[in-house]
Order: sequence, then structure tokens, then C-alpha cells
Amino acid sequence: MVVLKFMVFATISCRFLWSLNTSRDDFELMDYTKLISEEHFAVGHPVVIVLPHGEQGSGNNAVFYLIKNLCAAVRWPIFVFNARYEMEANVFIETHKHGSYIILLSGPCQDWEEHISGFRQQLSILRFGNTWESWNPRAKFLVSVMSDCPHFYTTLISRAILNEFWSHGVVKALVLFKKSSEGRGKKSDQNTSHSTQDTHMEIQTWFPYKNSQRCDPAEGTVPVKVFTIRNFSYIRGNDIFKGHFIKNLHGCPIRVHVRIYQPFVNPPKRFWLNDSYYYDSYEDGLEIELLRIIGKSLNASLVIVD
Ligand SMILES: *[C@@H]1O[C@H](CO)[C@@H](O)[C@H](O)[C@H]1NC(C)=O
Ligand SMILES: *[C@@H]1O[C@H](CO)[C@@H](O)[C@H](O)[C@H]1NC(C)=O
Ligand SMILES: *[C@@H]1O[C@H](CO)[C@@H](O)[C@H](O)[C@H]1NC(C)=O
Ligand SMILES: *[C@@H]1O[C@H](CO)[C@@H](O)[C@H](O)[C@H]1NC(C)=O
Ligand SMILES: *[C@@H]1O[C@H](CO)[C@@H](O)[C@H](O)[C@H]1NC(C)=O
Repeated sequence: MVVLKFMVFATISCRFLWSLNTSRDDFELMDYTKLISEEHFAVGHPVVIVLPHGEQGSGNNAVFYLIKNLCAAVRWPIFVFNARYEMEANVFIETHKHGSYIILLSGPCQDWEEHISGFRQQLSILRFGNTWESWNPRAKFLVSVMSDCPHFYTTLISRAILNEFWSHGVVKALVLFKKSSEGRGKKSDQNTSHSTQDTHMEIQTWFPYKNSQRCDPAEGTVPVKVFTIRNFSYIRGNDIFKGHFIKNLHGCPIRVHVRIYQPFVNPPKRFWLNDSYYYDSYEDGLEIELLRIIGKSLNASLVIVD
């Protein structure tokens, strides 16, 4: 039954949420999450909020605060995934394509591997569970990490997240962190001229195909890019989800599968490497020519196989 509950999607009753009492301690991350949603998520398309995996602690208030504010914005239908909270909810299975996703992670930084494994589980339930029809890897994904982690952990976390997304075909993804000067571990001993609470946000992402070293990352090799955000205007002024320059693949390989069908795809030329090994090279045919034109205009190196 626990599993069943876990897989359930719920529409939330926004009316109910108004009665929640949230204390205002640490909601900046949620304010930025909301702002990014408002600026960059398509109006009218469902927003899926994936609640933190595992048991809850102090993060509850912030989560409620976010949902309440997104509800108030009335821009999208909102679905809550992994509804462990006691909410007034109507369970249903919907079939509309999801427009965007907000995924919340929380917990101690040093246990990041555990959170990533929860994240992986949620992602695969979204994709293969009873909501598979709505799963939309072309959507925009925002992961908000509700822990103040040192830089060492944030890159590990975002690399693991972006890598996981990549394996699901997701490329429009941002990981959002709140950073107070040196993370929680080290309270600022230094006596700086800045105020003790030098807080900012960090967006971590990566741009596949940005250059020939960033084609298809092997496990753990996602080159993470970090952007420091100090105010709302940065979010407003930048197309933060861009960066996936599929107009220029910088020589990255694109695999194309073809079937021999003359005169569109003529049989390949066979090149023998030695007595027992060969490779086939598709070079002739109208469609092969077309592929070459496309490949050239995308600056991609084509790998044509059957
Ligand atoms: C709601 O917030 C008010 C003011 O912050 C506080 O006095 C009250 O005890 C809170 N109620 C609950 C149920 O937490
Ligand atoms: C910070 O520096 C000022 C002036 O140098 C000094 O008076 C103050 O005690 C220092 N504070 C801490 C916490 O070291
Ligand atoms: C907002 O932050 C950006 C950099 O993140 C900075 O260039 C800009 O001047 C800031 N704007 C304001 C109004 O502080
Ligand atoms: C195509 O990709 C190669 C390899 O990265 C690069 O050197 C070249 O500048 C690119 N061509 C264009 C037109 O961008
Ligand atoms: C033939 O070439 C393949 C690939 O280069 C190599 O692995 C294999 O050992 C070679 N076999 C012989 C008999 O040379």
C-alpha cells in the first residue's frame, strides 16, 4: 500500500492550503523556485511538483509555502507527486503531457547519494509508472535542493542529477541551490566587511554539445556550469534554460539508423580491417545525401548504422 500511495498523483485543493500556517524562516529558495517557474514555465501546461523523497523534517513549511504560492499564481494546473503530506487530494490519473517539473530534494548533504537514489527512483516512476503517458522529457526541469551544502557537495549532487536526466533524454534542466557564504559546515570565522549572511543562489547546469568534449557524458563526467544569482532580475533577464545549442553540435556524433531501401539507402560499402573484422559505410542513396546535408548544417558527425 505504501508503494501505491507513492505512485499516486494528486490534484491539490488550493483552498485548503490557505489555512496553512507557515513560519517565515528560510523561504528564499522557494521564492526563487517560484520566480523561475513564473518566468520560464509555459502557462496553462501542467506543472508537476515532486516532493522530497524520504522522511520529512523542517522542509515541510517551505514546501507548503511553495505550493501555496504556486497555487495563488493560478497559471498552471498543479500536480503533486509523492503525496505523503496530509492534503485534501483527489486522486486521479491524468493523460495530459506535463509542461514542467519542479523536483524538491532535501536532507543532509553528506547523505547525497541516498537522495540521488531517491531522485532516480522518482524519475523512473514518473517515466515508467502509471503516469508514463504524461511524462515529457522535452519539458523544463527545475530541481531545488533544500539544503545548504558546501560547493564540494553541490557539484557532486548536480552532476549526478544532470547525468540522471541525460539518461532519460532530459536536457532542459537546472539545479538550484541556496548558498550562504561557505555552506553550513563552516560558519564564517573570517571577519569580512560583508554582512555575515552573504546569501545567494546558485544555478548549476550543463550544456550538452557545447563543444566536442561535451557530447555524451560518461557516468560522472558531466561538466557542470555554475551561475551565481544575487537578485531576481537575473532570472527575469536571462533565458536560463537555453544553452542547448542543437544548431551546432560541434562535431559530436549523432547515430542514425537506416534500412537498405534503394534508391534511398543503397547497400553500404564494406571495409575489411583484417581477415575477420570489417565495418559498413553507408555512402549512397537519396536519403543518405539528405542526412549528410543535415549533418553538415548541424556540424554533427554522422554515425550511420543499420
Ligand atoms: C500560526 O501562526 C501564529 C503567528 O505566527 C501563531 O501564533 C500560531 O500559534 C500558529 N498556529 C499554528 C497552528 O501553528
Ligand atoms: C571583526 O573585526 C573588528 C575590527 O577589526 C573587531 O572589532 C571585531 O571584534 C571582529 N569580530 C570578530 C567576530 O572577530
Ligand atoms: C543583479 O545581479 C546581477 C548579477 O547576478 C548584477 O549584474 C546586477 O547588477 C544585479 N542587479 C541589481 C539591481 O542589483
Ligand atoms: C564544428 O565543430 C568543430 C569541432 O568542434 C569545430 O572546430 C568547428 O569550429 C565547428 N564549426 C562551426 C561552423 O561551428
Ligand atoms: C583485427 O582487427 C581488430 C580490430 O582492429 C582487432 O581487434 C583484431 O585483433 C584483429 N585481428 C587480427 C587477426 O589481426
